[in-house]
Amino acid sequence: MLLSVSNLSISYGKNLTVQDVSFDLEEGKILTIVGESGSGKTTVIRAILNCLPRGGSISNGSMIFEGKNLLDLDEKGWRSLRGKDISMIFQDSGNMMNPIHTIGKQFIEYIQVHSDLDKKSAYDRAIENLTLMNLPNPANIMNSYTFELSGGMRQRVGIAMAITFQPKLLLADEPTSALDVTTQAQIVGELMFITRGTGAAMIMVTHNLGVASYLSDNLMVMSQGRVVEYGKTSDVIEHPQAEYTKSLLKSVPEIGGRRYV
Ligand SMILES: Nc1ncnc2c1ncn2[C@@H]1O[C@H](COP(=O)(O)OP(=O)(O)OP(=O)(O)O)[C@@H](O)[C@H]1O
Ligand SMILES: [Mg+2]
Repeated sequence: MLLSVSNLSISYGKNLTVQDVSFDLEEGKILTIVGESGSGKTTVIRAILNCLPRGGSISNGSMIFEGKNLLDLDEKGWRSLRGKDISMIFQDSGNMMNPIHTIGKQFIEYIQVHSDLDKKSAYDRAIENLTLMNLPNPANIMNSYTFELSGGMRQRVGIAMAITFQPKLLLADEPTSALDVTTQAQIVGELMFITRGTGAAMIMVTHNLGVASYLSDNLMVMSQGRVVEYGKTSDVIEHPQAEYTKSLLKSVPEIGGRRYV
């Protein structure tokens, strides 16, 4: 098992926000998390990388990654894990980057912080990863600023950075929700291609049950800080048990008797 999360509870200040979340993730598998706004999806995914927003803390539970409890790691331990074994893809990678520096400068810096590659090798590695994400003319992209790229291209750059060191686990918080439908579909396809190709596992938060159904091996449904349903994606979609999951599925459009999830 790559990651085992057991009885995870998370508070913001005195508010117990996430309660008793448990799930397992095998190497190379994809888990999606769905649920209403405020149900705790982002909180769970950020807890895994020890980057909860200010005021957030884990009050109970364990997260075992490759046999080690992540809750026992010190800052040094996190530094060697983050960006390497586990990395995060954000909703809008453009926002995470500095608008006054070129993408190349930031990409090379990111690689050099996490490795001992020299500048030339870091540059080559960046180009390699941009190419993997289907970005045309990667040398030109390295010389560009974030505002010169479309949202889809920025997001591909963010994913290229996240996969630089072939992480074992990718965490993605609504990685396509800021994009148009066509670009969403392309990027979901690319994420699938990359995880299958490198053997990376992924946990992805999405509002789109269609994406969840297409992409994931397992599906977790959250409501009000708790897991209301968790299992094999096809089982959850075909035989939902919880009332909340049933109502989520009812809101998915049906065309010609076929449900579009
Ligand atoms: N920094 C914070 N300080 C205090 N409370 C917070 C903070 N961040 C989130 N919360 C609260 O925690 C709960 C869960 O929030 P979270 O962002 O994890 O939900 P979510 O499922 O990701 O929602 P969305 O679909 O809107 O992104 C919410 O009630 C929210 O108000
Ligand atoms: Mg969220």
